[in-house]
Amino acid sequence: MGRVQDKVAIVTGGSTGLGRATAELLAAEGAKVVIADVQDGLGSAVAQDIAASGGAAHYYHMDVTAEAEVAQVCADIFAKLGSIDILVNNAGITGAPKPTHEITVEEWDKVLNVDAKGVFLCTKHAVPYMKQSGGGSIVNISSVYGIAGGMDVPPPFLYHAAKGAVRVMSKSDAICYAADKIRVNSIHPGWLWTPMLENVGKDSTEGPEAFHARILSRLPLGHYGEPLDVAYGVLYLACDESKFVTGTELVIDGGYLAW
Ligand SMILES: NC(=O)c1ccc[n+]([C@@H]2O[C@H](COP(=O)([O-])OP(=O)(O)OC[C@H]3O[C@@H](n4cnc5c(N)ncnc54)[C@H](O)[C@@H]3O)[C@@H](O)[C@H]2O)c1
Repeated sequence: MGRVQDKVAIVTGGSTGLGRATAELLAAEGAKVVIADVQDGLGSAVAQDIAASGGAAHYYHMDVTAEAEVAQVCADIFAKLGSIDILVNNAGITGAPKPTHEITVEEWDKVLNVDAKGVFLCTKHAVPYMKQSGGGSIVNISSVYGIAGGMDVPPPFLYHAAKGAVRVMSKSDAICYAADKIRVNSIHPGWLWTPMLENVGKDSTEGPEAFHARILSRLPLGHYGEPLDVAYGVLYLACDESKFVTGTELVIDGGYLAW
């Protein structure tokens, strides 16, 4: 208990899946959590559940691709809660499951906007407040597909491009803001059972059953991860136990990249 006591933590995409598990864990460890998402009903319910269990949580509508909204939410949080100490850039989408030569510019822009520009905008507008707070920790949720490509999996190749961008942005920002005591790290989850994975399975051309059997056969541990498996990694990078860790990439993937 108390590993992030009284720290103000923004979790983008915190209404469901990995973001929700992260928001709940950070709150259980003492953080004042801000869930920032576009799914307002779900996000407000998560904030209420956290409050009902004795935690501190607020919900804000924030589309990570809309700069004015991101700027306003960061300003409001700083005014209301007094600091921004932790930013978890978790919001993400997968996009159309197509090879590069079939992807339209609109499809490219949609995924890159959320998965890469969203990380840029939230970092851009949180950093000035972190500097005022004397430092902070930014945890960027990339993916195993920010490290490796793969023809054996259905996520679209633009997802790989976006997640790869997040991986290197994290390292550059780690160097850029080290003097400000702002640490920046990326996490690279493998396959986690969340609404995102459920939808990827449903949308797969081979059908959900064959899809899941194929993916599971690629996982050395033989099962999908749970959101909490990754949320514990976020907690470590967010809290002071990792005070000497910046610019690193934490892979949490059930052995997927170890083949
Ligand atoms: N599930 C997996 O297997 C897996 C694996 C590797 C990486 N990831 C990454 O983990 C993160 C969370 O994934 P998840 O599986 O929980 O997904 P999810 O689809 O279950 O949840 C994503 C959340 O992001 C929010 N979101 C989407 N667009 C947004 C926007 N423009 N502004 C604000 N919020 C927005 C959604 O409303 C949703 O609450 C994503 O970045 C994803 O790419 C997931």
